[in-house]
Amino acid sequence: MRIPLHLTVNGHDHHLDLDPRTSVLDALRDHLGVTSVKKGCDHGQCGACTVLVDGERILSCLGLAASYDGAQVVTAEGLGTPADLHPLQQAFLDHDGLQCGYCTPGQVCSAVGMLREFRRGMPSHVTPDIQATPHLSDAEIRERMSGNLCRCGAYVHIVAAIRDAQHADLDPAEPRPGEHR
Ligand code: FES
Ligand code: FES
Repeated sequence: MRIPLHLTVNGHDHHLDLDPRTSVLDALRDHLGVTSVKKGCDHGQCGACTVLVDGERILSCLGLAASYDGAQVVTAEGLGTPADLHPLQQAFLDHDGLQCGYCTPGQVCSAVGMLREFRRGMPSHVTPDIQATPHLSDAEIRERMSGNLCRCGAYVHIVAAIRDAQHADLDPAEPRPGEHR
């Protein structure tokens, strides 16, 4: 059995015909060749597969592509290009927030989604007072990014990068239709 569905990935429209058991991760990597999205655990435990769907971060290994028919997906290469980096990507570079880089696409997408959640006033498990004006402390960054593991242990630099970019424009260069990213 196959089902038809439509995904917009980094500004490009794709019409797919997939086994209904196909995850968003496998649809991106195996069917669309978007290999910046990494498969780590394939069980929702490492965050390497994090992408933005309709602006929200999701673990793409846990979502069925069929559930996202019509969605807008943005991956790390949809956020910026080598010549025009997203502020979060630039911050990761500036702070050496990566070593092997395997977790980095997921870390960057998760950081963008996390900052959107924070700006909407969503509390975290370590928010001391949910009535007060929120402050993005290092503890908040660590808690909110705790679903993204880094086997190289670059956490200190990742926290520094996110702290540095916390006020950045998160949508500086939305891909335009037809623009290749
Ligand atoms: S590959 Fe999805 S959370 Fe690990
Ligand atoms: S930089 Fe290597 S896994 Fe994070």
